[in-house]
Amino acid sequence: MEHPKEAKVLVVGGGGRCHAIVDALSRSPQVGKIYCAPGNAGIAAQAECVPLKDTQVEQLKEFALRERIDLTVVGPEASLALGIVDEFEAAGLRIFGPSKAAATIESSKDFAKRLMAKYNVPTAAYETFEDYGKAVEYVRGHSMPVVLKYDGLAAGKGVVIPDTFAEAETMLREMLLDDMFGKGKVVIEDFLTGPEFSLMCFVDGERVYPMALSQDHKRAYEGDQGPNTGGMGAYSPLPFITDEDMEYSMEKIMKPVAAGLVKEGCPFKGVLYGGLMKTPDGIKVIEFNCRFGDPETEVVLPRLESDIYDIFSSIVDGAPMPDIRWSDKATMGFVMASKGYPGHYDKGFEIKGLDALENDPDIRVYHMGTAFAGSVENDRSGKVPAPKGIVTAGGRVLMVVGAGKDLQEAHDKALKAVERIGCDNLFYRRDIGWRVL
Ligand code: AMP
Ligand code: GLY
Repeated sequence: MEHPKEAKVLVVGGGGRCHAIVDALSRSPQVGKIYCAPGNAGIAAQAECVPLKDTQVEQLKEFALRERIDLTVVGPEASLALGIVDEFEAAGLRIFGPSKAAATIESSKDFAKRLMAKYNVPTAAYETFEDYGKAVEYVRGHSMPVVLKYDGLAAGKGVVIPDTFAEAETMLREMLLDDMFGKGKVVIEDFLTGPEFSLMCFVDGERVYPMALSQDHKRAYEGDQGPNTGGMGAYSPLPFITDEDMEYSMEKIMKPVAAGLVKEGCPFKGVLYGGLMKTPDGIKVIEFNCRFGDPETEVVLPRLESDIYDIFSSIVDGAPMPDIRWSDKATMGFVMASKGYPGHYDKGFEIKGLDALENDPDIRVYHMGTAFAGSVENDRSGKVPAPKGIVTAGGRVLMVVGAGKDLQEAHDKALKAVERIGCDNLFYRRDIGWRVL
C-alpha cells in the first residue's frame, strides 16, 4: 500500500530515549517531518530541533498548534507529571502519553504501592511515613537492609538502600526533616533479591501490549559496584525470563494494574513501564514508570519491525492495534558517560569518530547528552585546541547499540564501536550483559 509521507510529529525530550523514538518514527512511511524539543546534536540529524524545554508545556502547545502537529510523543516523566497530555488534549491535539492523573503511578510511590495492594499485584511489603519519629521506629523493628523511597519525582535519586541503622536514620532525616527533595512522604519497603528486568507495554485503558523485554544496568561501575545511575547499558531479549514468567508478568501484574487504573478513574494511555524482579518467591514489582525507559528504549525500539506511528495512533485514537513484530536479532548498548557521573562532571569535550560509525547497519549511536561545539556552558571552545563538531553536554553522553544474531555478537559489535569513539572525558562499563554472556 502506498503511504502518504505527510504526518508531522513532535517528540518532547532530548536524551537517548527520544533519539531512539525519533529514529523509529523516521522509519515510518507515514511520517513526513519530525520535530524534537529540545533534541540534541545527534537527534538534529533526523529531526528539526526546537529550542523549548520539555517542561515548557504552554510554549510546546503553542508550537504544536502553530505548526499543525499531527501527533506529539512525550519522552520524559517531568512533562507528563506537569499534565502536558491534559493540556494538549484540551486544545484538541493528538498526544501519546498518560494524563497527569495516570502519571501518578510514577510520580508517587505511595500511590503505586496502594494501587498494587488494592489489586493484589505482587510487590515488596511496605509502609508509608510522613513522621520522622514513626519512620525511625519502624526501621528499628526491622532487619536490615530496608529500602527507602521518597514519595515523589527525585530524578532517580529518591531510592536508597542503607546497610546500617545509622545510615537509615540519616537518610530519613534528610528526606523527612530537611526536605532534601521537597516536603513529602517516604515509602519504606522490604529488600528483595533477584535479577531485575524491564517490561514496557503500550497501554490504552485495559488494552495492554508488551514490548520486547530488556534489562538495564543501574550501577555506575563494573561488577555492579558504585552509585546508582540513570542506567549504564541495556540489552534485549532476556534469556532468563521464560514464557511462563512473561505470562505471569502480563496476567498478574501489567493487566491488573492497567485495569486498576481504569477502575480508579484514571485510565492509562501510553507506555507503562514495569520494573520487575525475579525473586525466589516469584516475580514482583520494584517500580512503575509512566513512560519509555532510558536506556531500555535504545535497545528495544531498534528491534521493532512494525510501524511505530501506527502503534502510537492506535493508542491515541483507541483504534485497533496492528500486529507488533520484533526482530530476532539481539541488541546490546553501552552508555558512555562523563567522568565523574553520577556526581559532578565537566562538559564541552569534543567527541570524535562518530561519522565512521554512521554507515554500519548493525550499529546505532543514540545521543543522550551532546551539543554542537560552542553551544554549551563551560564549553572548552575557548581552549586550545578548540573542540569541533559535537561535544559532551550531559552526564550520560552516548548509548552505542550493536545488533547481532545473538547477545554475544551484539555485545562484541557494540564494544568495538565504543572503542572507535574518541573523547577525553568519557567512561563506560565493559561488562554490560555479564548475566547472560
Ligand atoms: P526504583 O527507582 O524504585 O527503581 O529503585 C531503584 C533501584 O533500587 C532499583 O532498580 C533496584 O535495584 C533497587 N530497589 C528498589 N526497590 C527495591 C527492593 N524492594 N528490593 C531491592 N532492591 C530495590
Ligand atoms: N532505566 C530506568 C528508567 O528508565 O527509569
